[in-house]
Order: sequence, then structure tokens, then C-alpha cells
Amino acid sequence: MSILMDDRSVAQRILEHIEHDTTDLGQSVWREPVDNYRSKERMAAEVELAFRRSPTPYCPSAALPDAGSYVARDAGGTPILAVRAHDGTVRAFRNACRHRGTQLADGSGCAKAFVCPYHGWTYNLAGRLCGVPHEYGFPGLDKELHGLAPLSVEERFGLVFVTQDEPFLRDESLDQLPELIAPEQQLLAMRESEIEANWKIMLEGFLEGYHIRSTHRETFYPYGFDNLNLVEIFGRNSRVTYPFRRIAKLAETPPDARRVEGLLTYVYHLFPNVLVTVLSHHTNVIVLEPVALDRTKLITYTLTNRGSSTLELRETVERDAEFVDQTGAAEDRAVIRAIQRGLGSGANDVFTFGLFESAIIHFHRSLDAVLEYSHSASEAASKGVRT
Ligand code: FES
Ligand SMILES: [Fe+2]
Repeated sequence: MSILMDDRSVAQRILEHIEHDTTDLGQSVWREPVDNYRSKERMAAEVELAFRRSPTPYCPSAALPDAGSYVARDAGGTPILAVRAHDGTVRAFRNACRHRGTQLADGSGCAKAFVCPYHGWTYNLAGRLCGVPHEYGFPGLDKELHGLAPLSVEERFGLVFVTQDEPFLRDESLDQLPELIAPEQQLLAMRESEIEANWKIMLEGFLEGYHIRSTHRETFYPYGFDNLNLVEIFGRNSRVTYPFRRIAKLAETPPDARRVEGLLTYVYHLFPNVLVTVLSHHTNVIVLEPVALDRTKLITYTLTNRGSSTLELRETVERDAEFVDQTGAAEDRAVIRAIQRGLGSGANDVFTFGLFESAIIHFHRSLDAVLEYSHSASEAASKGVRT
């Protein structure tokens, strides 16, 4: 049984909100200290606990289609190399040579083996050290002990999850998540960009529709509603639904025959830093990678939607992505930069998140819980108490 509403229940709830001019409401207001966006110590704790000890989506499975397909990038500040091995499983390693630490790969591609660019030590797709030029210069070197340093990997719901450090902070709710990305969904493009803002400010922009009319008056608002969203919470994660106005016509369709494709956008937030957005013609997997306290890298994987073919779609998707990037997303980026600049103004000790912003509140509450859990676990450990 899924922890999320099925599409028909989603449609029904949206139609009720349209009829009554209502929206989903959270239970309480949240006040987030502004210092939490400005503190280096806080960010170090977030990265350490939420990014490195939680199973974090690293890339879509579609980015690793064949044996030898790899993706190398920083995740939570750690250089990582993920690769599909010959047995079909995905492996992930710390991306550093076991000789003197050079990174073995950058970006994405397909490789038969990883050859270090510095002195040529060679690792197979399973991470095993299988070649050392002039090996007689390393008497006693045990190659079995000098494979790439492995990380914990799980491939689920069409995504590759990597966990770097123990103890792992698991989220059981993910076990009940339906398949987010189906095997037939293909990777169309991957792009990277950076924004001068804290990663949490960037994330918050995806998780509420309260800003649609003000921020996107000429771009998204003509197709969407003013402040009409569904918010579902599961574990540390959430799904926010953004209906288009054209969904109102479903009121004339019998409930059992209602289909929502093309009538709404689903935004899944997978804790801590990944969004899966299911749009009319394509699906994006967006990874927010903190680069500094006030700088975030966005890695966006664009995939075909369920049941659609790549060739027909490439042009439509490119056109959609271009439109969103030049219009609505540009408006979001302007606001996000403005919030970042305003952090130092001294105007706010806290930011107040209201009843329409409950997915953001859930995120802050989950992040606090992860940080607090670890804090109490380490205190207990120092007192010799088992948790
Ligand atoms: S650092 Fe990789 S072979 Fe020397
Ligand atoms: Fe927006």
C-alpha cells in the first residue's frame, strides 16, 4: 500500500479545493532562526548528518544505463564516483586514487576501467586495483587492500541512493514509496548551474505555491491557481502538487476515468536535497549540492515521462525547459538571490512559515530532528548510555 494518494484521490481533492476556494493547510506556524542559514557550524552539521549519513539520492538510474556508465561529482562535499558494474549493480566509491589521491573521473561517461591520470594505477568497474605500472617499485603492496574505497549504495524507485558514513539514518517511509521513475524513462539531458544562495533557501522555493501569483504573475500564474496545493508528508520527505487551471474540466469526467497527466505538476522532495518534479512532458531530478554557505550547485537530470518516446519528445521537452528556465525559474532565482542578500540585513531573527508552507516546515522539523538525534546520541555515548 502506497503512502501517497493515488491520482484519482488527488484529482478529487483538487476539485474540492477549486469548488470551495481552499487549499491544504498545515497545523501550525514555524519560526526558523535566520542564523540557521548563516552559520558555518550549522551547515557543517547539516552536511555531516543529513547528506553523508542519510541515504541520499545521487542520480537517476537512467544516468547509468550500461556496464561502465559512470557519474562523478561531489555529494555533501565528498567527491564520489558511481558506476554500473558488469553484474548490473551500481557501485559507488570515494573518487580518489589509492596511490596519492588523484580523482579518477569527472562528469559522466562510459569506461571499461578507471585509469588514474597521474601515474596510471588502474581500477576495474568493481573498484578493484588491477594494474600498477612498474609494480616492482611498491614491494609488498597488497592490491586487494588498495581497491577504491566503497560506499553503501541502493538502487530504488529509479534512483541511485548513496550513503557515505555510518551510522546510517534510515527512513523507513521510503520502503513504501511507489516507483518514482520507471525503467522506460530515458535520460535526455544533464545540466549544472550555480546560484548565490544557501541550499535551504533554494529548496524552499520548490515547496510552496503561495508565491505563484506574486512572483510568477505573467508566467506560471496564467496556467495555475493562486495558492492551491496539496501537501503530503512521508517520513522526512514530502510531495507537493501544483494543479493547472485546466484540471477543472475533470469535474465532468466520472471519477474512475480521471487521468491527471498534463493537468498538474508533482514535486517530490526527497530528504535532504533532491527534488523529483513530474511535469507535463518530462521529469526532472534536481540535486542541490551546497558549495558554500551562500552558494549552491544545481544538477538537473531531465528524463522522458512514463510511457513517452524519446524521439517525439526531445523538441517539446527542450522547448518546455527553455520556457521554464527563461521565465518562471529566472523569477525564482531572482527572489532566492534577494533572500540571500537580505539575510545580513538584521531585519529578521526568524523567518515565519505559515499554514500554506507546511512542506517547508516539515523539512525544517525533519532536519532539526536529524541534528538533534545525533546530538543526543553523541551525548549519550559520552556518558556511556545506549540509545
Ligand atoms: S595518484 Fe593515482 S596513480 Fe598516482
Ligand atoms: Fe516559483
